[in-house]
Amino acid sequence: MTHSATESNQPERGTPGAPSPRNGVSAREPILETSGVSKTFPGVKALQRVDFRLFPGEVHTLMGQNGAGKSTLINVLTGVLAPDAGTIRLGGEVVAFASPQEAEAAGVRTLYQEVNLCPNLSVAENIFAGRQPRRFGAIDWADIKRRAQQALARLDVSLDVTRSLDAYPIAVQQMVAIARALSVDARVLILDEPTSSLDDGEVAQLFKILRHLKQSGIAILFVTHFIEQTYAISDRITVMRNGEREGEYLARDLPADQLVAKMVGHERMSARLREAAHEGQAADDLQEIAQDHAETRDATAERPFVELRGVGRRGTLQPIDLEVQSGKILGLAGLLGSGRTETARLLFGADRADSGTIVVNGRVVRLRSPHDAVRHGIGYCAEDRKKEGIVGELSIRENIVLALQARRGWWRKISRQRARELADVWIERLGIKASDAEQPIALLSGGNQQKALLARWLATDPKLLILDEPTRGIDVAAKFDIMDRLLALCANGLSVLFISSEISEVLRVSHRVAVLRDRRKIAEVAGNASNEDNIYRLIAGSGE
Ligand SMILES: Nc1ncnc2c1ncn2[C@@H]1O[C@H](COP(=O)(O)OP(=O)(O)OP(=O)(O)O)[C@@H](O)[C@H]1O
Ligand SMILES: [Mg+2]
Repeated sequence: MTHSATESNQPERGTPGAPSPRNGVSAREPILETSGVSKTFPGVKALQRVDFRLFPGEVHTLMGQNGAGKSTLINVLTGVLAPDAGTIRLGGEVVAFASPQEAEAAGVRTLYQEVNLCPNLSVAENIFAGRQPRRFGAIDWADIKRRAQQALARLDVSLDVTRSLDAYPIAVQQMVAIARALSVDARVLILDEPTSSLDDGEVAQLFKILRHLKQSGIAILFVTHFIEQTYAISDRITVMRNGEREGEYLARDLPADQLVAKMVGHERMSARLREAAHEGQAADDLQEIAQDHAETRDATAERPFVELRGVGRRGTLQPIDLEVQSGKILGLAGLLGSGRTETARLLFGADRADSGTIVVNGRVVRLRSPHDAVRHGIGYCAEDRKKEGIVGELSIRENIVLALQARRGWWRKISRQRARELADVWIERLGIKASDAEQPIALLSGGNQQKALLARWLATDPKLLILDEPTRGIDVAAKFDIMDRLLALCANGLSVLFISSEISEVLRVSHRVAVLRDRRKIAEVAGNASNEDNIYRLIAGSGE
């Protein structure tokens, strides 16, 4: 590692806002600090002379658009990547971790963006993998089990910790990863988008713990795209833009609209985005667009594109009746485990229903496999982009044309030229930040991978698109672009089944919302009844 940093590009120390001394130790010194850190990948300057500092006893949030360099900075801090230039200090000492294990041994505990647990190991093993408690030299399983349960109990989660991790949905896996990160004492805790698939209750629980850890002097580095969460938890915010540190601010001094302007660049700050920055107003804004689209469509008679009549599967989903109208968005709201993803999988033929009938375009159909569903014009953008989504080794182009190619049949190969054109169109439309469509998709930032997955299904020109947590990890500006695009497609007849843990997001885009609880549909609301309070009441079981 080179040591090219000079004092001059160090952030000023002791500027207003540095935490006051605590326990007799000067807390004005950052615990973790970078100066002049750069990292270049072929075709991308991911980090350019970045100065960053993290103080003990604070929650410091890194914000920036997809591809801004947040995860790269974390990877450099924690020994996953070696920086090309610059220095890193931990507790004032220059460090150059050769691996995440080294960083961990020095007290820097990290939850990476792509949860990298072992799906076929048990929950308990995942929490303690690599550091199992031992007794008389042997692994003490009873102890592991008990401690895993305790670690999860702190997060208000109770699971059978002996079951394998992949028996649980992605949000639960995320909680397990958080429990793992929290299960040892650390000086620095780094969490890269830990809340991207959690619901409000889980986020609240996590924040409670973070506040507690902060009180005890731990420094917390947090990454999120949720503006509301940023303000709920942060003392300090560093904004990244195009690999550079745009600035460092005290959260209380930086209004939300300015934060968003700094992320996207003032010149790209539309009036709408400014409003979007203020939670709540965002909802009204998109509601308006949705309404406009709805009005243009209401002239045409409502016609269901797909109907589920008593469709269920033992142990998974109680028989359900559901209709998605042509050109409309039906939202599915419910807590984790309420049956949202299960409904999606039955509709996509990924699981087979054992009761009821499915009617597509007025005809009873049998969906025995995803292939059947795709032939009927159904697309499914799954929530777990790592397991059911992107194929890391393939290029962005190959990933985007994958579903279209599958629908045409593998023997009718889409020409390279055509595939290239398609990929370029979608990269442009969804603003995917990539240096080249031929890049392996694994090299894209998390949010950009998610956009590519969405592009894959939009490229098939589906009649019905099932979107399970489609905006997971996508930045605020891109979220708006994508919602606009969806609503415009609906105006042209696309139907959407929209699943998200964010109730406000479901409400914003959906014409109707079906509410699920305990693996059954308990209500369907539209118009005035579809407000957040009402839906929360229904979910909690105290509604009408
Ligand atoms: N191993 C790699 N090889 C090539 N390019 C990479 C690699 N890792 C990251 N990049 C590129 O570096 C840039 C910054 O990526 P990074 O993952 O740090 O973004 P991010 O701010 O975390 O975005 P997101 O919000 O989408 O997670 C992106 O353009 C990304 O494609
Ligand atoms: Mg990232």
